[in-house]
Amino acid sequence: MPKCIIDGREAEFKPGENIIEVAKRVGVEIPVFCYHPGLTVVAQCRMCAVEIEKNPKLQTACSTPAAEGMVVHTTTPKVVQNQKAIMEFLLINHPLDCPICDKSGECDLQDNSYKFGSPYSRYTEERRTYLDLDMGPVIKKNMNRCIHCTRCIRFGDEIAGIHEMVAVKRGNWTEITTLNSKELTTEYAGNYADICPTGSLTLKDFRFKKRSWFLKKTATVCEGCSRGCNIEVQEDGNTIYRCIARENLEVNKYWICDEGRFNYHYVHDSARVLEPATKGATAASLTSTTWEQGLEVARNVSAGKKVVFLVGSDLTLEEGQQILDFAKSKYTSAPVYHFGTPTVKTTQEDGEADPILKMKSKTSNLNGMEKLGIKPFDPSFTGAEVAIVFRGGRAKLPELKSMKRIGVGVFNLPQVESYEAILPSLSFVEKSGTIINFQGKEQKLKPAIRPLGQSKAIAEILMVWANGGKKA
Ligand code: SF4
Ligand code: SF4
Ligand code: FES
Repeated sequence: MPKCIIDGREAEFKPGENIIEVAKRVGVEIPVFCYHPGLTVVAQCRMCAVEIEKNPKLQTACSTPAAEGMVVHTTTPKVVQNQKAIMEFLLINHPLDCPICDKSGECDLQDNSYKFGSPYSRYTEERRTYLDLDMGPVIKKNMNRCIHCTRCIRFGDEIAGIHEMVAVKRGNWTEITTLNSKELTTEYAGNYADICPTGSLTLKDFRFKKRSWFLKKTATVCEGCSRGCNIEVQEDGNTIYRCIARENLEVNKYWICDEGRFNYHYVHDSARVLEPATKGATAASLTSTTWEQGLEVARNVSAGKKVVFLVGSDLTLEEGQQILDFAKSKYTSAPVYHFGTPTVKTTQEDGEADPILKMKSKTSNLNGMEKLGIKPFDPSFTGAEVAIVFRGGRAKLPELKSMKRIGVGVFNLPQVESYEAILPSLSFVEKSGTIINFQGKEQKLKPAIRPLGQSKAIAEILMVWANGGKKA
């Protein structure tokens, strides 16, 4: 491999890699604004300028590929003077509203200003201000904070496939806006907030809810479709506040869709059944009960009956196997089927729902259910008197013909009014487990919060169910 020297450290690189990426690998930080590894390089902010021996002028590290024998310096007086000048220039119009800005604590402008800027400004003129039109339900715009890095424009053009963010006017009055001031239409709009290096584009959903430094972060996987994008779930006080994209170049690169980003809301939905609930012989709807009584109803309703097991393809491999084992040991002749997306019953029927990330299967583990040998459920099935339905929170409940129903998992009350019993279990952010995406990649779910209400792991519920109410 070819080698170069960055701040005295020898660094190997692949031909074509830019100086920023090579420097990162050997622990040298070069500040950037317009550069993003998932977008084309435009080299317009000049923040990343470095000194390269035998070059008379500073060179932008984002647009300069490393070369054999190249010697780079990132902390010389010339480099430092440039960084201070760029920061002063970018901040002349920037409002001092960090205390009320949602980006505060995770803002590149704030961080670079602190690390590389000057504590003084010579600017005494009036600051430029803009009026901000609404950009739709996902993004809140505040162009007074914009540094014109154009990451948002490039994201729309190159990733979302829609030219909806544009720069209008010129010079000091350059303004980033949507084409004809329309609302954003991409289903990937949340990424604008992730990549904006300032508080100019922030998430409406997260706005003023939590300061970023209070959030605890868990690296896990989205359950919104069979791609399994890598995400970071951020919580405080056992409440999830935000979900952002996590880099995985083989699965989702740097991006996630809005459906996946906001999917977690059902976890805290006030209609979610979080206590065991049963329907008495005369009662019209479910009422809360104890675990003992809930399990007793489940046992009685299914005892001596023809039973079918329905397993959501939003459950993990481990949960699928536990259900198979339970069915085999307690209901020997009961068939086990999976369900999840009515139009996608097998991995052969799955495929891309758009050219970006979304897949047709709206559950994360269709592939895993097939690997366990579980067949898809046919809604015309009538061969059972009782259906025991296991669901993770995402799988679409199937139509069930004249069967009594018992639910184990994540359900909202209106979905299951007609069920005999609900035994609440864990959503994808409350448990660990394995899912297999459409590419055949095994990925791990990790718990970001503790189980809500009285919900328990499926393994625990089945163990008590199998042992007649007493733990083994
Ligand atoms: S809105 Fe954000 S991403 Fe877009 S140009 Fe301005 S600072 Fe850059
Ligand atoms: S594409 Fe699928 S896995 Fe990725 S974020 Fe969207 S819903 Fe989640
Ligand atoms: S990051 Fe290199 S010029 Fe902007």
